[in-house]
This record gives sequence, structure tokens and C-alpha cells, in this order.
Amino acid sequence: MSSAIINGKEIGQQIREAVAQRVEALTAKGLTPGLAVVLVGDNPASKTYVANKQKSCEAIGVFSELIKLDEATTQEALLAEIATLNERDDIHGILVQLPLPKHIDEDAVIAAIDPSKDVDGFSPISVGRMMLGQETFLPCTPFGVMKLLEHSGIEVAGKHAVIVGRSHIVGKPMGQLLLQKDATVTYTHSKTKDLPCYTKQADIIIAAVGRPNFITAEHVKEGAVVIDVGINRDEHNKLVGDVDFASVDGIASHITPVPGGVGPMTITMLLYNTVQSAEQKLN
Ligand code: GUN
Repeated sequence: MSSAIINGKEIGQQIREAVAQRVEALTAKGLTPGLAVVLVGDNPASKTYVANKQKSCEAIGVFSELIKLDEATTQEALLAEIATLNERDDIHGILVQLPLPKHIDEDAVIAAIDPSKDVDGFSPISVGRMMLGQETFLPCTPFGVMKLLEHSGIEVAGKHAVIVGRSHIVGKPMGQLLLQKDATVTYTHSKTKDLPCYTKQADIIIAAVGRPNFITAEHVKEGAVVIDVGINRDEHNKLVGDVDFASVDGIASHITPVPGGVGPMTITMLLYNTVQSAEQKLN
């Protein structure tokens, strides 16, 4: 029997509809949620991501402003731009698209974003609050994965979740969010020896290692839930995840496809965080 597909497009759409209603309520009170997207340079992938983010904002009535800066922009100029956005009343969320050009200190830039507008959840204050289980903006991709699990009726408490990958954006926070929901969490990564020994024990596998078709049948226990965070191009330039879908299909109980699984959830949760930030201005 095939594995059940976790449809991120559909779940994301349901959440976006609920968020759109909150936007309507805010707009009726004279407050339009606003997101500033800062793009430095001409990275083609970043340009596509940013265009998609803006399109999604527009679709639900969130105001978005693109601040496009030249590749040669200095760190001072970028920090000055962020200081301005921090002060603006019409901007409730600030997103600096990563990666930044090499001459700019990414950590310094992210730390300069006002935590009350850090809708990516990347700043040290946001990360610290998340680690302590305090209220904060959660990073969009792991937050989206938690929503996928919740909407699919997958219980996390007491389950063994194995994370493959340890990035600041996905792997690390993913483990924290699962731990907060009472999962037992194991972190693995590119230097882990005998990876299948760990992943074979998992009730939930989160593949976030950034290698095409890396997770195969040998890694997966019968009945495990497999969440694929990867977005890669294979040798035929086809979009593939970190999981070899065909190999794992029928072994996993549930699986997220690529595209249409985790991908749509990242922007959904960005919209969610931005609207939440605007709501907090009313309180
Ligand atoms: N670059 C790749 N993914 C992301 C993301 O989620 N947020 C930002 N700001 N940059 C990214």
C-alpha cells in the first residue's frame, strides 16, 4: 500500500484562508499588515523566493514592500535601512533574504532587526525565547512542519523524532519544537556515522540535509512518518527532495511530496507571523 500523502498545498491554503480573515478584520480597523522584504544583490534563487513571498502577501491583502539593494551595498547602509524599517509604523514584519553577499556580516544584520518585527524568527532574541518556550515568532519552515503534523492528526508526544540536518534555519529549531511537544529527539547530520542505525529507530524522520534523494528505504522503519524539507535539483534539473520518494513510498505511513509538501508551508507561516505581529500592535 502507498504511503499517505501529507498535502502541504492544501493545508497551507486552509491556513492562508484563516489568516486572510484576520487580515480583513485588521483592515476593517484601519490597520493593514505590512511586510518589508530586503533583497541584497542578484541571486536568482533569492529573487524567485522574494517574488513568491510578495505575491502571497498580495493574495491575502498584506502590504509588502521590496527594498532592493545593490550587491555592493555596505553593511552600514544595510543596517541603516533596517533601523528605518524598525521605526516605521506601517511595517510589522522585516525579512532579510539570505544569503547576503560575503562582505556583509549576516549575524550582525539579523541581530539588528527589532525582535517584535522578526517574522523569520532568526534573531538571537527570537531563538533564545524559542529555546525557553517563551512566546516569540517561530522560524517559518519548522513552524510549518509542526502545522503539517498537527493538521494530519499525527501525535508527536512520546514519539522518537530523528532530525537529519542541523542548520540554524531548519534542523536545530525543528528539534526544539518537537521536543516542546514531548517528542524524544535525536539530531543527526552529514558527519553522523551509520545514519540508518538512527533513522531506522525513528517514528518521525525530518530530512533537512540538502542532498537530493539522500533518504532511501534502508533509512526508514515500517510505518514511520517522513517529512522532506529538501528542495534540490537532480541531474536532470528536476526538483527533488532529500527523500527518494519512490524508494520510501509504501514503507512510510505518511510522507510529504516535493514539491507540494513542506514548501508551501514556509510562506504560509511567514504570512501568519506577519499578521500576528500586526495584531500585537492593536493590543
Ligand atoms: N533563505 C532561504 N530560506 C530563507 C528563509 O526562510 N528566510 C530568509 N530570510 N532567507 C532565506
